[in-house]
Amino acid sequence: MNKNNYIKIKIKKKNFKQESSENILSEINKYFDENELFLKKNNDNDILIYLNSFDINKFESFFNEKPEYFQVIKQKINKNKSYGIDNGKKIYIDYNKERKVKNRKKKETARGKYYYAKDNNFKKQNNKLTEEKINQIVCADSLEYLKTIPDNSIDLIFTSPPYNFGLDYEATDDSIKWQQYLDQLFAIFDECIRVLKYGGRFAVNIQPLFSDYIPLHHIVGKYFIDKKMIWKTEILWEKNNYNCKYTAWGSWKSPSSPYFKYTWEFVEVYCKGDIKKTGKKENIDITADEFKEWVYSKWSIAPERNMKEYDHPAMFPEELARRILKLFSYQEDIILDPFGGVGTVAAVAKKENRKYISIDISEEYTKKARERVKKVPKQLKLNLE
Ligand SMILES: C[S@@+](CC[C@H](N)C(=O)[O-])C[C@H]1O[C@@H](n2cnc3c(N)ncnc32)[C@H](O)[C@@H]1O
Repeated sequence: MNKNNYIKIKIKKKNFKQESSENILSEINKYFDENELFLKKNNDNDILIYLNSFDINKFESFFNEKPEYFQVIKQKINKNKSYGIDNGKKIYIDYNKERKVKNRKKKETARGKYYYAKDNNFKKQNNKLTEEKINQIVCADSLEYLKTIPDNSIDLIFTSPPYNFGLDYEATDDSIKWQQYLDQLFAIFDECIRVLKYGGRFAVNIQPLFSDYIPLHHIVGKYFIDKKMIWKTEILWEKNNYNCKYTAWGSWKSPSSPYFKYTWEFVEVYCKGDIKKTGKKENIDITADEFKEWVYSKWSIAPERNMKEYDHPAMFPEELARRILKLFSYQEDIILDPFGGVGTVAAVAKKENRKYISIDISEEYTKKARERVKKVPKQLKLNLE
């Protein structure tokens, strides 16, 4: 047995009664193969767990049948990051040998990761927002209202701007010259970046206008990169709306100019200054199952079905907002939506125990958003610890 083939995890004996510590040692060593994992007395105070790899089903069925005092071992093991899963086995050691790219970290540093954002001038000092600004649904032009919000005071922005498709919004023209549209959009985004905390995230739901050959998601991406925001991810929101009404084929059965059909939208996520966001551990509310499912960044979520009820032409579903909020913010964080519509982000923020600011230029949508959010009961803080 070569001890270099294991990671070692120390566990205090005082976690167990004397007889249970001996019982644990012998039962685990009997059940698991020595090449997988084993336990050994280290000294009078500690036990060492030697961990190489294990079959996940075998591991789960062992601990499921065991009394409470065994579970400390399971929790200790689960706190360690495995390198990956191979054939149903969780591997903790030697995984690097099997990887195509060796010395990944060193190479990343040498290449200069997110080089485009390194020389940013973002201030690191974050500021507190005054109470009267928090949990507000505001009727205003975001460009004006955001000027009343201090620099570096918002944790997460999640928004879906108008796409300039020609929809019938209550208060705005949704079909203007592209350059004018982009100038207006980016003036509001400039304010958003200013109010975002250092380490805060900006998630934008966007869809290109294929008929105009405007790759809006790329144009928005270039804007963020020019602003020295760090690209975190692109989520493909698969709406599965194959029965969308348009029947255009472009050049039917000819390569001259075929017309493409899309059933998805994008969510682009950028970070200000730092890809890591700090927060209190007790404010994390994402479960292991949610995390495992949602980090695969293609999300299949049906489009919002209640648009008629709210008389709004372009709402996104609460599930999309719920995932973004839980993946990118902590409970009690402040969430901003500068194109708040009928308050989807604010309603979800309240449901998920976050604070919100939702701004929309339409009085009608603002009224509906206020009524909607008022109906959401105040949530108790979730503690997963
Ligand atoms: C795509 S919708 C957002 C819908 C929202 N996500 C929801 O689920 O209800 C865009 C919204 O931006 C609003 N809007 C357009 N220009 C604005 C501006 N300058 N300031 C604030 N809101 C604006 C429109 O009234 C519209 O409700």
